[in-house]
Amino acid sequence: MSIKSWIAVATIGITAITGWAITANHAQASAFTTASDAVEYRQKAFSLIRENFAYMSGMVRGERDYDAEAFKQRAQALYHLSHIPFEAFTGAGENVTANSDALPVIWENWSDFESKRDTFQAAVKELVSAAASENMREIRPKFMDTARGCQQCHQGYRAD
Ligand code: HEC
Repeated sequence: MSIKSWIAVATIGITAITGWAITANHAQASAFTTASDAVEYRQKAFSLIRENFAYMSGMVRGERDYDAEAFKQRAQALYHLSHIPFEAFTGAGENVTANSDALPVIWENWSDFESKRDTFQAAVKELVSAAASENMREIRPKFMDTARGCQQCHQGYRAD
């Protein structure tokens, strides 16, 4: 086989593997079939969101020494997590409020809920960029925007 055609075959192979990985990830991310699975899934995801958020909060408030690498890692984790719980508000998790703090109004105002989600995810994305600056003056306002994103959704859509 010539080098050229070997490269072509290898490229197709890599594309196939990447495509497979994306499909597999997606299937995994939606791995719930019953209403209670969906509620548990989104609550666990929010717990991890809080975990990472609280860790960064300590650094932003100066209660924990600022460690640029750790902060970047937590911001990145929050970015990935910011997409996870919302899948469990559809499918088996749609209109499910049993053993949950989700309010029924979520599904009545679905497009507003989605826009609160989008605002939050955009804020986290900016937090990730700010974290790369390793400059707390840039990080702090983006962290506050993210915190507002949590509050603004909880206010109308989560039982206290
Ligand atoms: C777009 C809406 C939305 C955003 C944004 C959001 N949340 Fe929530 N959150 C909810 C809803 C709804 C629930 C209730 C889920 C349930 O009980 O089914 C919840 C539940 C939680 C819980 C309780 C999880 C448990 O164990 O029961 C925590 C902690 C939490 N959120 C933290 C956060 C933090 C921190 C942020 C921001 C960094 C955030 N959330 C952003 C809607 C949101």
